[in-house]
Amino acid sequence: MKVLVTGCAGYIGSVLTRQLLERGHDVRGFDSLNYGGEAILGVASHPRFEFVRGDLRDVSAVRAAVAGVDAVTHLAAIVGDPACAQQPDLTRAVNRDASLALLHLAQGQPQVRRFVFASTCSNYGKMEGGGLVTEDSPLRPVSLYAELKVEIEQALLTGDFRQDFIPTALRFSTVYGLSPRMRFDLTVNEFVRDLVLGRTLRVFGEQFWRPYCHVEDLARAVGLVLESPAATVRQNVFNVGDTTENFTKKMIVEAVNRALPDVAGRVEYVHKVEDPRDYRVDFTRIKTALGFQITKHLSDGIREIAAALRGGIISDPDAARYRNV
Ligand SMILES: NC(=O)c1ccc[n+]([C@@H]2O[C@H](COP(=O)([O-])OP(=O)(O)OC[C@H]3O[C@@H](n4cnc5c(N)ncnc54)[C@H](O)[C@@H]3O)[C@@H](O)[C@H]2O)c1
Repeated sequence: MKVLVTGCAGYIGSVLTRQLLERGHDVRGFDSLNYGGEAILGVASHPRFEFVRGDLRDVSAVRAAVAGVDAVTHLAAIVGDPACAQQPDLTRAVNRDASLALLHLAQGQPQVRRFVFASTCSNYGKMEGGGLVTEDSPLRPVSLYAELKVEIEQALLTGDFRQDFIPTALRFSTVYGLSPRMRFDLTVNEFVRDLVLGRTLRVFGEQFWRPYCHVEDLARAVGLVLESPAATVRQNVFNVGDTTENFTKKMIVEAVNRALPDVAGRVEYVHKVEDPRDYRVDFTRIKTALGFQITKHLSDGIREIAAALRGGIISDPDAARYRNV
């Protein structure tokens, strides 16, 4: 299969690109390289990889990128609540307008069969009561970032597409772990960095829940969906993660202390009564329908990030290119 990966130089996209090449697919990567291109250096000369530098808002660049591919995996976006809040006009233009245009362009190209959209569990906002949310629970987005993800999902799930066009939305857990494009603005990665470097880590709202998933497992879910039966994934939505991997921030701090008992950093909890994003997620659907299983747990991600920091592989973890704002 020839797969277009938008956002191929990003935290998840750079891992997905490698995995798709390993699975034998041809990959065309598309990215505006907002954080540089180092993340795809390792695949740049791969015989089945092709890179197109372009902006998702440029219709002719996108049309050229979609030409001749069998599948589109759409990850390019302004990512995260803070980055979107800082640039709302750009965010609407990229995350909504250009994403909708890409969806419709792909469905208008007869050879494009698959379309996988990177959405987020942030769409759930705050859960009601103490239960787990499923794909059928109401969505309560509380940020521009999540509101626009919900809009694209709705277009994808309810659109009147040709019968052999198979779009799927994946609601990713909060991701962690090592990637060729590191991000230290993600909870687990940030906590490990600060504690390993002996800093005082300030944790805001330690009692609030979120699901977490290793970047390699998230990326693998995208490949799995591309190869799954059309009837199972067409205009369907899946949470991506594992039900056992819902944690509070306090539990993440405890996991870091368990995995790395010798960290020098200390933790200061800053109590917050309200957090509009407080949710625990059920991941039964992707497990039963697609057989998805995670292969890595929180402790694996914690240890690998600590090793990369301690070994000097990442020597400047505070650099601007390692965060989205
Ligand atoms: N990281 C998470 O925890 C998480 C959780 C849920 C969903 N997601 C979704 O997964 C996807 C990838 O996230 P990530 O963490 O890899 O983010 P990232 O910021 O590392 O990567 C995004 C990539 O998109 C590119 N991009 C941005 N605007 C573009 C444009 N106009 N044209 C072309 N390329 C553009 C950037 O250059 C970057 O390489 C996003 O859609 C995000 O919303 C991420």
